[in-house]
Amino acid sequence: MSTAEDGPWWRGAVIYQVYPRSFADGDGDGIGDVAGIRSRLDHLAALGVDAIWFSPWYPSPMADAGYDVADYRDIDPVFGTLAEVEALIAEAHAVGIRTIVDVVPNHCSDAHPWFQAALASPDAPERELFWFRPGRGPDGARKPTDWVSPFAGDTWTRTTNPDSTPGDWYLHLFAPEQPDFNWDHPRVRAEFEDILRFWLDRGVDGIRIDSAAMLAKDPTLPEATPDGPSPFVDVDAVHDIYRGWRRITDSYPGDRALIGEVWLPDHERFANYLRPDELHAAFNFDFLGCAWDAAALRACIDTTLTAHAPVGAPATWVLSNHDVTRHVTRYGRADTTFSFAAKREGIPTDLELGTRRARAAALLSLSLPGAAYVYQGEELGLWEVEDIPRELRQDPMYHRSGGVDPGRDGCRVPIPWTGDEPPFGFSPDGAAAPWLPQPADWKDRTVRAQTGDPTSMLELYRAAIRIRRAYPALGDGTMAWLPAPDGVLAFHRPPGFTCLVNLSAAAVPLPPHTNRLLASGPLDDDLLPPDTAVWLRTAEPTPTGPATA
Ligand code: GLC
Repeated sequence: MSTAEDGPWWRGAVIYQVYPRSFADGDGDGIGDVAGIRSRLDHLAALGVDAIWFSPWYPSPMADAGYDVADYRDIDPVFGTLAEVEALIAEAHAVGIRTIVDVVPNHCSDAHPWFQAALASPDAPERELFWFRPGRGPDGARKPTDWVSPFAGDTWTRTTNPDSTPGDWYLHLFAPEQPDFNWDHPRVRAEFEDILRFWLDRGVDGIRIDSAAMLAKDPTLPEATPDGPSPFVDVDAVHDIYRGWRRITDSYPGDRALIGEVWLPDHERFANYLRPDELHAAFNFDFLGCAWDAAALRACIDTTLTAHAPVGAPATWVLSNHDVTRHVTRYGRADTTFSFAAKREGIPTDLELGTRRARAAALLSLSLPGAAYVYQGEELGLWEVEDIPRELRQDPMYHRSGGVDPGRDGCRVPIPWTGDEPPFGFSPDGAAAPWLPQPADWKDRTVRAQTGDPTSMLELYRAAIRIRRAYPALGDGTMAWLPAPDGVLAFHRPPGFTCLVNLSAAAVPLPPHTNRLLASGPLDDDLLPPDTAVWLRTAEPTPTGPATA
């Protein structure tokens, strides 16, 4: 947490991601909702987070769990009402928690009125707001490009004209139910600037921008080539959109933040989004995908800080979210990296080892310079649920890949709150079953079961966030690596703070310190066991070591 003297809150915040469908169910239909979030706000206050990011809750046919938005200025009835959301924002603010809404500007739902109007007639002016194109070949039967979707399969769907003849095609980088907007059109720009204002006027402190690098397309629609620039990811014209958005957030009182979902392998191109007149922050997916390996993590941390420094933006540290395999499961596998291309289920995992590493990773990510993200359930040590029956799976990534990609349902299973059996307090008594089944083994992972247990993941997160708030060294700032044995990460943060993470196979001695603040697992006298991290209070002056930020 950054204090006022340190700079704006988003530079050093702990930001908790609520996935509304799976957080808490207030009305008993088995699906999480705003009433549920309001009833569990005390959990987030006790956890000590600075802000909550809410995944989409807008009216939607839910072809992609709400990332297919039909109306950006309202709430889907399954989640509640706009009035309830306004109350939630106020209640969060009252307990010192800021709020961030998720805006999805790359595409909308096929149920959005603009797209419906566009479909109704080939002459509708709304066609210009999307990417409608004739097909290739004499009868237009070949899609306009061969671009491949991150959701597997085609990125174009052919329409049918009102007279039932085959019509033009429209572009959807994701599912067919998610038509891409044409961001070259001034109406699209004006509409989203108005949507931003709509939410900023309701007092939200930040906007998470979905698929933020994909909005601009090369209007000549060339084929994607392995070596050339992508015609639809990170096209330079995207930056002008965010300059316009930044002028809007800057015009509001308080520190309103734009946080981009930017998946880009090139660090300089990534940092371009964080120039002082663009976004405030972006998710660090390199860190999320990094192996549980000291050299790899150290390189990732260095690259992150080096990339952010020239643009003056804070780094972010992310271990999990609603799109990726939960890290307790990942870290228990032989290959601990994450990538969408290699995402599979049923890979052998040692959950005990994964949990031990996840505890150490929590202390690492919460003590690096910048902002940290916590995905709901991470603070409970939840693992990926890999045995969801086929007929209950909802994710288009699963269905569109024919099941090759297991999809993302396994990290979206409803949160266990209390009790010894499903629904673990997720829904009120006598309610419908949760929309995805919870493992019976989660009885030890409920909030209730973990509260007060000093060895629990929940109490580790609570303690870590409490210390982070109290220590000026943590949050935004600088760090310096300390000399350490192979396989060990050790860094200092001024004033007087050291973090040591042991990723080697042998226990290592602690460096000199005045007291031990927190450890992710039991220590063996003054030895730090493998896959364990510790936070130490150290005396100044600053130990030697090359400054990296
Ligand atoms: C982002 C979201 C993901 C969604 C996709 C399409 O990557 O995080 O959940 O499916 O965009 O909107």
